[in-house]
Amino acid sequence: MTTMKIYKVTDYDALSKRAASMLAAQIIGKPDAVLGLATGSTPTGTYQYLRTWQREGILDFSGIRTVNLDEYRGIARTNAQSYYAFMRENLFDHVNIKEENTYIPNGEEADGDKVCREYEALIRRLGGVDLQLLGIGQNGHIGFNEPAESFAEACHCVDLARSTIEANQRFFERAEDVPRQAYTMGIGTIMRAKKILLLASGREKAKALYQAVCGPISPKLPASVLRLHPDVTILADEECCAGMEF
Ligand code: PGA
Repeated sequence: MTTMKIYKVTDYDALSKRAASMLAAQIIGKPDAVLGLATGSTPTGTYQYLRTWQREGILDFSGIRTVNLDEYRGIARTNAQSYYAFMRENLFDHVNIKEENTYIPNGEEADGDKVCREYEALIRRLGGVDLQLLGIGQNGHIGFNEPAESFAEACHCVDLARSTIEANQRFFERAEDVPRQAYTMGIGTIMRAKKILLLASGREKAKALYQAVCGPISPKLPASVLRLHPDVTILADEECCAGMEF
């Protein structure tokens, strides 16, 4: 039986504030916590609240360590669409976190085995992730763990699903610029986090969320595996819960 906690909130702003509050509690409760962070449209509002609360002196990031879920393969850090750039723009450049305490898979390194092996070892060395923030893809992916025949245990290089490439296209000028591969934490890596917070906003995510919570636990809908984790909180806005009772 799942111990998942699911909270329905009114809208995106309420979701962002609630998510930021959970991260804030972690930061205040453990000033050297390891936060697993996510990119994409969903967490930007959350990061905005964290920035504000740090500016107001409520939060202190000076001892916080972060590990991001994923990064495109073959993209330079200087590329505005890299997840490295995203994190700087949305959070790191605006809070008192130490750059050397922020980790993202190195998308510029072509040797995928090396990147993934080192990233997995790094997470273990840091003592594991205290709180992992997740979004959910329209196809149910978490990180860049796309629907597959089996769950990937550790960090690995993935071929992105066509739907993911299409969803990401909005950020790139030309379709051919959208990366086709990424380095991502594996399902095992994510499941080893002590706590998980998944954010789901908007109608486009409703089906994936429903399947994750109510469908079979299957690698074909990667987020469904979270039902096997002992400490998962899901925050979903009303649009994302439309037609669902849970
Ligand atoms: P999004 O992506 O927040 O941009 O919708 C979430 C995801 O694909 O995991």
